[in-house]
Amino acid sequence: ANRPPVVFHILPFIGSTVSYGMDPYKFFFAMREKYGDVFTFVLLGRRVTVALGTKGNNMIMGGKLSQVNAEEAYTNLTTPVFGEDVVFDVPNHVLMEQKRFVKFGLTTENFRAYVGMIEEEVEMFLNTDSSFSAYNASDNDVWGSFDAYHSMAQLTILTASRTLQGKEVRSQMKKSFAQMYEDLDGGFTPLNMIAPNIPLPNNLRRNKARKAMTDFYLNILRQRREKPSEETDYDMLAALKDQRYKDGRPVSDKEIAHMMIALLMAGQHTSSATVSWCLLHIAHRQDIQQALYEEQVEHFSNGDGSLRSPTYEELKGLPILDSIIRETLRLHPPLHSLMRKVVSDMPVPYSLGNASEDRTLVIPKGNYVLAAPCISQVDPGIWRKPLEWDPSRWTEAGSLAAQLYRDYTETGEKVDYGFGMISKGTDSPYQPFGSGRHRCIGEQFAYVQLETILAMLVRKLELKIDHVPPHNYTTMIISPQKPRNIEFRRRQV
Ligand code: HEM
Repeated sequence: ANRPPVVFHILPFIGSTVSYGMDPYKFFFAMREKYGDVFTFVLLGRRVTVALGTKGNNMIMGGKLSQVNAEEAYTNLTTPVFGEDVVFDVPNHVLMEQKRFVKFGLTTENFRAYVGMIEEEVEMFLNTDSSFSAYNASDNDVWGSFDAYHSMAQLTILTASRTLQGKEVRSQMKKSFAQMYEDLDGGFTPLNMIAPNIPLPNNLRRNKARKAMTDFYLNILRQRREKPSEETDYDMLAALKDQRYKDGRPVSDKEIAHMMIALLMAGQHTSSATVSWCLLHIAHRQDIQQALYEEQVEHFSNGDGSLRSPTYEELKGLPILDSIIRETLRLHPPLHSLMRKVVSDMPVPYSLGNASEDRTLVIPKGNYVLAAPCISQVDPGIWRKPLEWDPSRWTEAGSLAAQLYRDYTETGEKVDYGFGMISKGTDSPYQPFGSGRHRCIGEQFAYVQLETILAMLVRKLELKIDHVPPHNYTTMIISPQKPRNIEFRRRQV
């Protein structure tokens, strides 16, 4: 059988690592031009077969367990950071059970409680963070500035710890926990996908921090057992502590600790990058910022110039707020490459790539496959003005985006998609949260967090920036390149 075409390269181990690593969008578009939708490139010694477009998304995201395996693609990177016995350190059926446990903590009831907590955190942040605290509403003609990504990373971890992680983590946020988090995060490097245990300083710090973090959670679990408190009813530790696997085995404290670390890491850069991009875009588009602000005033005005707190249900029904996030995730999905290892020879459907009815194409066992929904999300064959940030496409009658949104909300078979899931299909052109068995379970939480943060910030601040910075890909997730300072002044309330 035929193999997919291999991208031309000179150095055997390095292959296309540099051009892919510097700008995956540019690399994928250029290679598609040359080789078609399916091609193989060499990434630090691995043979990685990319399959682009909706059919490529479908082949990989909907791939059978007998063909593709996520653990083997990700475990090097994740297991030293999360710890053993969770996520990609266990067989797929165990991960599926663990995802089910986590869903017990991601309930509408909890989300209702989170909106107010996040609101308070934003307020506290603006009053205490050094970029903001010197500027108050009474001298609102003075403009300050903040680094969008840096500030939003802080606000994201503060709000996640206040809600999902629980009060013990929140109370250590300005202390021991912050350093442990930084050290663990330093273990997320591209090199670690291949060689996670080279005794480099960052890996040694990662290992130490991971042990300390495990102990930190174990200690909380122990203390909570000795002294139960209703205050912690809404957090993830509370949801995980009584779960059992289908065979009756209770989830161990160590597994809980490691799941908590996994959730912390999974939700941190993804959410903080997304909220930064949202702010950068509304700072750039004054008209849309104004519309977003007016949407808040229209729904939450007390009539005396002040705005009241939103409820969870109210927040998720706001079309401008919602489509700003949706559109931002289309252009800046934090994860640009979703990988699996091929565990048995994988035939490419004949309508994909340069396979055809009389020419079968097979991806050999041992290769990796890579889905890049980031490309179908800006495919000029699919979207009108694909590179333009235009939230109104999601509400425009007859548009593809509106169609995707409607199909999803009207025909989704699963329960409470509340905070806007769109694409359930593995062949959807829009899947910032992935699809299929590895689909994100944090989407609804992320929407609660993003919507509340954005709503609160636009109520308090006016923002401006000359242009939206380009993507930085060296951070593993797509983050905004420096400089990314947004100018702001307090709104007069
Ligand atoms: C999986 C994106 C926030 C937990 C995924 C995947 C994507 C994604 C694309 C699929 C990965 C793959 O198929 O290889 C995002 C984005 C987020 C976000 C864009 C925010 C804007 C969160 C949050 C949490 C979370 C807040 C936790 C509370 C997870 C988990 C998985 C996952 C547990 C499943 C991994 C698996 O089954 O293999 N996410 N995520 N994510 N995400 Fe998220």
